[in-house]
Amino acid sequence: MNKLAFFSTALVAVLFASCGNNNPAPVTGSDTTVNPATAAAVLPDTAAFHDIVDGQPTALFILKGKGQATAAITNYGARLVSLLVPDKKGVLTDVVLGYDSVGKYIHQPDTYFGAIVGRYGNRIAKAKFKLNGKTYTLATNDGPNHLHGGKKGFDAVVWTGHQLNDHAVELTYQSKDGEEGYPGNLTVKVTYTLTDSNALVVNYYATTDKATVLNITNHSYFNLNGQGSGTINNHTLMINADQYTPVDSTLIPTGKIEPVAGTPLDFRQPMYIGARVNDTANPQIKYGKGYDHNFVLNRAKGDTIIGGGNLAHAVTVQGDHSDIVLNVYTDQPGVQFYGGNFLKGTNPLKAGKRDDYRSAFCLETQRFPDSPNEPSFPTTELKPGETFQSTTIFQFSTK
Ligand code: BGC
Repeated sequence: MNKLAFFSTALVAVLFASCGNNNPAPVTGSDTTVNPATAAAVLPDTAAFHDIVDGQPTALFILKGKGQATAAITNYGARLVSLLVPDKKGVLTDVVLGYDSVGKYIHQPDTYFGAIVGRYGNRIAKAKFKLNGKTYTLATNDGPNHLHGGKKGFDAVVWTGHQLNDHAVELTYQSKDGEEGYPGNLTVKVTYTLTDSNALVVNYYATTDKATVLNITNHSYFNLNGQGSGTINNHTLMINADQYTPVDSTLIPTGKIEPVAGTPLDFRQPMYIGARVNDTANPQIKYGKGYDHNFVLNRAKGDTIIGGGNLAHAVTVQGDHSDIVLNVYTDQPGVQFYGGNFLKGTNPLKAGKRDDYRSAFCLETQRFPDSPNEPSFPTTELKPGETFQSTTIFQFSTK
């Protein structure tokens, strides 16, 4: 059985095994309003993505499988713009936040909606790291730290897009030696494939001509009741992680790996996202202003090889109104669960919606934040002659 066929079959078992609900009761309060979609969502107009940015053409690529799902991807930032999947009644629901034109991605304050972030996704402490005895200085674009590749990361450049067929698009970017302070000419390739069973498969590939550091991920903001439909507090979440990397007040890992047990970060059993999100007596929730943490994913016994398509089940999330279920599989060692704590409702989303506070979550499959400064974390170094290869699958179904 090939890998994808295996996952569609395994999915049913996973759902029944992991999506039982141990929650005490749905979360209530002022920030729990939900306006679920009633009409079928549609894709943005492709013409609104035809432009010239930094002298390069931009476009919108549409992917279809034999299932009902449809995806739209732009080569500006290699961003997932729309992902339409059927809800429990078969109504097509757009489960990712995004804009309806390339211009808005360029001009709105940046949230990294749907983007591929890099060269180093997540944070590097004090924007400095040492590699082979040399210190590299990057942009400080997140307080004292470096975030998501710097001032003009992979989210804000034009990639070369090549539609492979109806269900796959390949995006390539050549990042120059010294770009944003990183060493080495890096070739990055990302392929998005929509399968016949409503899974979006993201494949990453990179090579370099000089030793460098690399941590690339997709930064989609999901709302399984539909983008812009309100809070995610009553989405049910399971993260297959016994441990996480605690952070300081600037969200840089302390270097320790600690158990989630007994903390609001324990999602080993399905739990409403909002059930403990305001437990600021816990310093981690206080520092993150909610959830903004890297979880150390459990892997099957003996399954120690990370990367190279060695996939493990990482996360299950279920929308409370749509009953849409998202299962995430990855070969990466970690996942950043970010609960939209910095969204303010000021960005005009597709279909006249807004990006309200905590109305979306990101699941950034990754190596750990600040790894270049933490020798005990899995390495993020890429050497000449090596090929970085990685896969993450976002599998959609209904309960
Ligand atoms: C970070 C958040 C940040 C968000 C948008 C996430 O990956 O962990 O702290 O606000 O990206 O920049």
